Amino acid sequence: MDNLRIPAIKRKEKINLYVNGKPITAYAGETVLAALLAAGYKIIKKNPVSQEPRGALCGMGVCFECTVTINGVPNIRACVTEVQEGMRVELDD
Ligand code: FES
Repeated sequence: MDNLRIPAIKRKEKINLYVNGKPITAYAGETVLAALLAAGYKIIKKNPVSQEPRGALCGMGVCFECTVTINGVPNIRACVTEVQEGMRVELDD
């Protein structure tokens, strides 16, 4: 789903990444969070106690509400991590 991106913006090369095993397209220079939101992922994780869905809040590395597992490494802030080709992102189910 690329329709959340502004078409007039010139983008760099396409980057393929995988979210819970499903491929999505991002563009070089985007953050993982930007790619997730553009692909329609609004729920990033769940509260570990209540299991309530959580989404990104600040978008600038402060709140830690966007932590995901990237290439097997847990607790990476998606909002301050740039996409890389073949990156594997795991979100809470
Ligand atoms: S959205 Fe707040 S740290 Fe990423």
